Amino acid sequence: MTTYAVTGSTGHLGRLVVQELLARGLPAADVIALARTPEKAAALGVPVRPVDYSDPATLPEALAGVDVLLLVSGSEIGKRLPQHTAVIEAATAAGVQRVAYTSIANADHSTNPLAPEHKGTEDVLRASGLPFTILRDNWYLENYTGQLPQYLATGEVLGIDGDARIGAATRADMAVAITTALLDPDTAGATFELSGPPITLAGLAGTITEVTGTTVAYRTVTAEELAAILRGTGMDDATVAFAVALEESVARGDLDAPADDLERLLGRPATTLADALRAASR
Ligand SMILES: NC(=O)c1ccc[n+]([C@@H]2O[C@H](COP(=O)([O-])OP(=O)(O)OC[C@H]3O[C@@H](n4cnc5c(N)ncnc54)[C@H](OP(=O)(O)O)[C@@H]3O)[C@@H](O)[C@H]2O)c1
Repeated sequence: MTTYAVTGSTGHLGRLVVQELLARGLPAADVIALARTPEKAAALGVPVRPVDYSDPATLPEALAGVDVLLLVSGSEIGKRLPQHTAVIEAATAAGVQRVAYTSIANADHSTNPLAPEHKGTEDVLRASGLPFTILRDNWYLENYTGQLPQYLATGEVLGIDGDARIGAATRADMAVAITTALLDPDTAGATFELSGPPITLAGLAGTITEVTGTTVAYRTVTAEELAAILRGTGMDDATVAFAVALEESVARGDLDAPADDLERLLGRPATTLADALRAASR
């Protein structure tokens, strides 16, 4: 019997992984949902243990008896390296046999402002001596499909470079692939790029037009123009600067990564942009 534990189980991705582990036939008793807000995990139907990456005192009890841990990266940008380090140290102390970590596309050479915390965590994990599996999540397709109402309302997709390749994939596909990696001990030591077939922002506009029948055009803007547009929506300056930096990173090709790892772990083609848009438009 192997005991699996999933952090971030109250979030979009962690919840899907818990559900997928159960769908693969694991007994609920062998899947532990680790949650900062345990009441949000109650409906998962598995044992729930409280954990806060920022409170090391919660970690030993949370990780006791765990064999395989999925560490879903936290959402508090700027605090994540010490948080993840604390979890990895606690996992080592608790005798966890393998830790899988959700990183970012191209973490070792990405210029994305989010990348240093992920690369830092990968480095800590590699140096820990623990068997590890690194799962470098690309952008969620939902980052785009979630904006469908706005694209349709404005008739535009804006970007700094419409041709930059973005290996976005749905959270559901990533969760299936992550589950396969968790269940397969032979993925110890492996680093996977979880990227879908590349899309571009110009292609996004074209696919929205095809799928919905409403014309949506791609428009290139400069970083300054994008910042002004975002400020106009009421966003504060720090958030605007961060959002623009993310778009500049996308334009530099930081999300351009091969799709084969995801599809190999999925055992089927990844969900296409058109299918994801169809689902979002229903
Ligand atoms: N690839 C992408 O496009 C993309 C986009 C956004 C985020 N991400 C990254 O991928 C991760 C998973 O994505 P998601 O969509 O599932 O995000 P999400 O829905 O925001 O879920 C984040 C999860 O992390 C938990 N968490 C945050 N801080 C924590 C802490 N200090 N201690 C314990 N748990 C903590 C949250 O718990 P609570 O329920 O208590 O808040 C939640 O369960 C995110 O956390 C972020 O690192 C990736």
